Amino acid sequence: MPPLLEVRDLHAHFVTRMGTVKAVNGVSFTLEEGQVLGLVGESGSGKSTLALSLVRLTPFPGEVVGGEVLLNGRDLMQMTEIELQQIRGREIGIVLQDANAALNPTLRIDNQMVEALEGHFAMGRKQAERLAVDLLRDMGLPDAREMMKRYPYQVSGGQAQRIMLAMALALNPKIIVADEPTANLDVTIQAEILARLRRLQKQNGAAILYITHDLGVVSRVADEIAVIYAGSIMERASARNLFDRPTNPYSHALLQSLPRIDVKQQRLESIQGQPPDLMDLPDECPFLPRCGKALATCRVNPKPELVEMYDNHFVACFNPMDPAGNLR
Ligand SMILES: Nc1ncnc2c1ncn2[C@@H]1O[C@H](COP(=O)(O)OP(=O)(O)OP(=O)(O)O)[C@@H](O)[C@H]1O
Ligand SMILES: [Mg+2]
Repeated sequence: MPPLLEVRDLHAHFVTRMGTVKAVNGVSFTLEEGQVLGLVGESGSGKSTLALSLVRLTPFPGEVVGGEVLLNGRDLMQMTEIELQQIRGREIGIVLQDANAALNPTLRIDNQMVEALEGHFAMGRKQAERLAVDLLRDMGLPDAREMMKRYPYQVSGGQAQRIMLAMALALNPKIIVADEPTANLDVTIQAEILARLRRLQKQNGAAILYITHDLGVVSRVADEIAVIYAGSIMERASARNLFDRPTNPYSHALLQSLPRIDVKQQRLESIQGQPPDLMDLPDECPFLPRCGKALATCRVNPKPELVEMYDNHFVACFNPMDPAGNLR
């Protein structure tokens, strides 16, 4: 069976007066039916640009400059805008990081939701309204009926996120791309939403690309995790293997910089140095200038490819961590 979604060598740039920001640099991954893939990376690593580029919504002045995104074998990058509109929302539901900006500011919440539901399910207004209320309650918004009468500027960031999530899930898409969907929520609501996402994904067999900078959150929701750095995927493995056996020195360093309650830790290690300037990115491993394990090979060769080093464990590195030498 071919994967539900296959991304091949995707590149996205922002062309500005100051120079070209290379935000996504040759990303490839597959998403299978029913899979939750977590995409983690620090701020500015290209997560949102990647998410938006998948459905060709890279914000201006950004654009996809190379690669393919295959949905059921059809390349989204080659489709017309009208074809893409059929796919966005229905086949690929998108929850944007900036939920407030994603809602239409001139329409009350009830009108936006009802419009989307009526269009999708061929249901009447009353029925769509009832469904919208249920969806919002499911997202932990008990005063849904009252909330629906408001305009987007009258709801908080966390409420807007839940409205977006409810709308994205309602259309029952095969794929959900959720960019920091719980970033503005308190932990209890966050836990409820994560549980709900997992439940829905089990019921409907939807695949989820769950994007966050928070490794703690992603460990609770994802089957597999991809680590992105300077627009490149450095490692991809099952959540368990990534935590137990981080193999790319960058993933290793990232995990070392997190507090853990299950292991006695002397101190947290912060990663030395700064992420590279995306306007001036040499063709080499992006982590090279900060890597404690770099070899001469790393300096003379172009960026290493993501290769399967262990079963279903992909790593882009010339000098990966020795599994026995890992601390976890
Ligand atoms: N409109 C834009 N014009 C120019 N550069 C941009 C634009 N939007 C994003 N970038 C740059 O592209 C890179 C990737 O940004 P992106 O928003 O994808 O990161 P992110 O991983 O989603 O970060 P965060 O965790 O903060 O949401 C960053 O260096 C950012 O400065
Ligand atoms: Mg982002």
